[in-house]
Amino acid sequence: MSEKFKNLINGEWKDSKSGNTFENRNPAQWNEDLIGIFPSSDKEDINEAVAAAKAAFEKWRLIPAPRRGDILKVVGDKMLERKDEIAYERTREMGKVFAETKGDVQEGIDTAYYAGSEGRRLFGLNAPSELPNKMNLSFRVPIGVGGFITPWNFPMAIPTWKIFPALVCGNTCVFKPAELTPKTATTLVEIIDTAMREVLGRDYIPGVINIVHGKGRIVGEAMIAHPDIDLISFTGSTPVGKRINEVAGASLKRVSLELGGKNAQIVMNDADQELALEAVLWGAFGTTGQRCTATSRLILHKDIYDEFIGKLVKKVKKLKLGYGNDKGIDVGPCVSEAQRETVNSYVKIGKEEDKAKLVAGGDYAKDDALSKGWFYEPTIFVDVKPGMRIEQEEIFGPVLSVIKCNDLTDAINILNDTPYGLSSSIFTKNVNDAFVAIRDIKAGITYVNGATIGAEAHMPFGGVKQTGNGHREGGWTVYDFYTEWKAVYIDYSGKLQRAQIDNY
Ligand code: UN1
Repeated sequence: MSEKFKNLINGEWKDSKSGNTFENRNPAQWNEDLIGIFPSSDKEDINEAVAAAKAAFEKWRLIPAPRRGDILKVVGDKMLERKDEIAYERTREMGKVFAETKGDVQEGIDTAYYAGSEGRRLFGLNAPSELPNKMNLSFRVPIGVGGFITPWNFPMAIPTWKIFPALVCGNTCVFKPAELTPKTATTLVEIIDTAMREVLGRDYIPGVINIVHGKGRIVGEAMIAHPDIDLISFTGSTPVGKRINEVAGASLKRVSLELGGKNAQIVMNDADQELALEAVLWGAFGTTGQRCTATSRLILHKDIYDEFIGKLVKKVKKLKLGYGNDKGIDVGPCVSEAQRETVNSYVKIGKEEDKAKLVAGGDYAKDDALSKGWFYEPTIFVDVKPGMRIEQEEIFGPVLSVIKCNDLTDAINILNDTPYGLSSSIFTKNVNDAFVAIRDIKAGITYVNGATIGAEAHMPFGGVKQTGNGHREGGWTVYDFYTEWKAVYIDYSGKLQRAQIDNY
């Protein structure tokens, strides 16, 4: 019998009302490893969760913020205690190698401690009044019920980026995790709920955190249209993000969208080539290329183009594919058969439509041991020209396109010429070139002499153009999304003072 998991609604673990379920399997050993059975929920379950979250909000918002922060400190401690176990299960669930899933759990721990301490800040601002004997204050207030829709590639870190700041600000949560990683999400919610019970004791409030498993087009759709959900935070693809904005916009919900990327690493002719090689391998093939920050384009200066490609291809051919919980593995599988098909269809586009030159990979992994999972060979196209489809569209897999550039201006123009703008990188020893790149690259994140991946939890995370709608997660910036400003005027003059009318 495989393990059966439940939704958490109003403090109770329960099946979906319909009794429907879905399976979750290991992408590296698809037929052999059934991870669990999860509730396939629908609108009725969402209605119940939203009603619980709405009722809980009236109590939760009155818990002092430092005490809400104390809960997140305990959440961080519990995640730390269980770091290896969570990472192991995560690798089993979505495939990336153990060291990486440990990093993902650590990102969640860092976010918990940051949010925990923010409970003692959540600073407001004061400004002088234009009238005598009057004081002006402004402070942050929570918004209400948040709906959280999260992806499978960082199934621990990304939900924590959203849920932890939302909670410490005094909002309540309805969480719909990706169908491909429901177990990690369940563990996270279990930890939050347990910490709440421990810290609040008899003051425990059911319904502050709810998880509802199921399909995006059923559960997600019900959330984005629900009149009692006040805000939506979503990380995923640009087309889905646009749809969410349209539906949620109709009821004027606050919406944070973290969407696609087509990130590039520039390598100039003066760069430390060994370092740049390590970075591109990590950026392009870490997480099997399934990151919104993945390096999917490499822009090489013409002087080093052939030499660098030669070294890169040699190194790529040595990458070891396999089950990420086994030792010595560099690259795990794609997360699902469908994802691998998408990757393969882009490789076909690269070969047939774009007519780019394939120099590594380009096929399903052939080794027998890999036939149990959704493995795809790390793939490199060279002589890719700006504007080709593999150069413009997000692939979300282990595919790198290499483009030749003439100089820094050319490199930056190529880098900027996509619909996205999340992460970016330049390798150079020339300090002037580095600063020009920092100034002129159109992206939310720029690394100098570092890979396009590796954002830290206390820094703003997000992008420009079709990568999002202008919000930032992480660090101090995310707190603007989860609070509204309330302005307060206190008049101690004993008279009715009519601001602009009496004053000038
Ligand atoms: C994502 O790919 O959706 O900077 C998030 C990074 C990670 C987060 C990636 N810390 O690559």
